[in-house]
Amino acid sequence: MKTPRAFFKPLAIGAPEPYRELPVRLERMIHFVPPHVEKMRAKVPDLVKSVDVVLGNLEDAIPADKKIEARQGFIAMAKENDFGDTGLWTRVNCLNSPWLLDDIVEIVGAVGDKLDVVMLPKVEGPWDIHYLDQLLAQLEARHGIAKPILIHAILETAEGVKNVDSIATASPRMHGMSLGPADLAASRGMKTTRVGGGHPDYAVLADKAGEAPRTAFQQDLWHYTVARMVDACMSAGIKPFYGPFGDFSDLEACEAQFRNAFLMGCLGAWSLHPTQIDIAKRVFSPDAGEVAFAKKILEAMPDGTGAVMIDGKMQDDATWKQAKVIVDLARLVAKKDPERGAAYGL
Ligand code: GLV
Ligand code: MG
Repeated sequence: MKTPRAFFKPLAIGAPEPYRELPVRLERMIHFVPPHVEKMRAKVPDLVKSVDVVLGNLEDAIPADKKIEARQGFIAMAKENDFGDTGLWTRVNCLNSPWLLDDIVEIVGAVGDKLDVVMLPKVEGPWDIHYLDQLLAQLEARHGIAKPILIHAILETAEGVKNVDSIATASPRMHGMSLGPADLAASRGMKTTRVGGGHPDYAVLADKAGEAPRTAFQQDLWHYTVARMVDACMSAGIKPFYGPFGDFSDLEACEAQFRNAFLMGCLGAWSLHPTQIDIAKRVFSPDAGEVAFAKKILEAMPDGTGAVMIDGKMQDDATWKQAKVIVDLARLVAKKDPERGAAYGL
């Protein structure tokens, strides 16, 4: 473990100071784009207006013979578009692949000043984060990048889940983590071929009561992992996300999966299909009633100190901070999405 003083030092001379607090960003959905497909890249200007994060995917789902085109396509889409408040991320190939080194070196060299976050797949332990952290610092220094590039880990191996706490605290560059249910299922030897969601055979059977038919209650395969990830992330001051939902034909099940993740503390999810964008907006935007109440708290405590009663509920410095998180988020939503924002009356 580094000493507290060393933890926030740049890892290369000339690299930017690491953030002490993460920038406040709206990240309800991380929208995946296959950057080697020109038709998909052509949609990026519209996507920038409708999604919170545009991610150029270089890893799984990109054929091995298209890896270089995907990297070049990502660089092109980063150069050609103004992303404004919309996040620009890339999911690079995994650390032991033949592509990772050039993914990072070429992308940071070409568009490092526009890149917000590198999503790193199949993270096994803090050593994976340390490697990328050092490499990014060297490249930031070489290219005079002013704003630190953040790292987002995918939690998708049994070893990664075992080490989730030390991954979350490995570097001030850590932005957050996403659950990767497909690779995690494979790594654990789980007996499912689905990408996220429930499984009809993972159930608890009601007790026997004479001859009456017994009801099977389906359980959530991902509950344990999401809970561990949320605890690891929130205790480290970084952000937990649910990852992919693979059945594009089942919007209800996707919404249920996103909502479970949201209720457990996740801040967003991946959208792999345009229909999942609206689901993520619905699920991960703050509730209008909550925003109205949070506004009352902020108005009743203009300097954020002391204690007041609102609708019979005690408010103090801590609830003021919670209220500020909700109102700040609502303001970001209103800016991005004025129709939804109208309901917040900000
Ligand atoms: C995502 O990468 C997954 O494996 O689920
Ligand atoms: Mg995966």
